[in-house]
Amino acid sequence: MAQETSREVGPVVLLGPPGAGKGTQAKRIMEHYEIPQVSTGDLLRENVARGTDLGLVAKAVMARGELVSDDLVCVMVRERLMQPDCHRGYVLDGFPRTAAQAGWLDALLDHELFDNSRPTRAWPIVIRLDVDYNQLLLRITGRRSCPTCGRIYNVHFQPPRADEICDEVHGTKLVTRNDDRLEVIQPRLTAYQEQTRPVADYYQRTGRLITVNGDLPMDDVTEQIYRILEDHHA
Ligand code: AP5
Repeated sequence: MAQETSREVGPVVLLGPPGAGKGTQAKRIMEHYEIPQVSTGDLLRENVARGTDLGLVAKAVMARGELVSDDLVCVMVRERLMQPDCHRGYVLDGFPRTAAQAGWLDALLDHELFDNSRPTRAWPIVIRLDVDYNQLLLRITGRRSCPTCGRIYNVHFQPPRADEICDEVHGTKLVTRNDDRLEVIQPRLTAYQEQTRPVADYYQRTGRLITVNGDLPMDDVTEQIYRILEDHHA
């Protein structure tokens, strides 16, 4: 499919449990539509790596598989969405993750980010990736990423050409995320069930939730998502 580089895309929200493929699909949407991926997980990990005040708080919370507090995450997201590269649209990956974050995002879009030159308010297109539990476990435990370029691999489904080495960055050894350890996976899945499922209910009630079969191979999931985005803009 041809790239779309000039059209207004608007906010796209990818919802789904840990390991559903949000990051994988967000990167593809980013490249295809040339809009930024705004991943709260990645932004928090960057803060942890830089040792910022936010990173110091987030580090322990993330290591337990719990959610970082709404106020800290919302301040971080607001700052990111105000950047000029978000003007045509952006893919939110991992946000909103609580009902409070979803309400906060609607308020932000309705007030601060609403541009009077546009005929309608840009409500997000909300796409949820549904994936079977056992498949999620395989995806999380098999995930590896390149510490230099960020490319995501999977030892079961998308292995690198050379064992544990990035295809793109010569000789770079792939790493396992700190929260992909078995003892942290269950708390993450529980946080999703208890705190993030209500977000899907919120969007369902307002008629904005579209569900995609995330169990399919990556390219098939991408095709479903592109079709939704194309239909939405037709
Ligand atoms: P975050 O980084 O957002 O992690 P997550 O939601 O747990 O999601 P993952 O990154 O694990 O999975 P994914 O859906 O992106 O899957 P991926 O594409 O990598 O959050 C981490 C932590 O930060 C949270 O626990 C929390 O503490 C904090 N946090 C973040 N946002 C927050 C917020 N808004 N509020 C509060 N706290 C927040 O794919 C997984 C694997 O599967 C990969 O190996 C991939 O290659 C493979 N794969 C992908 N698609 C397919 C497919 N179709 N078939 C086969 N394999 C596939």
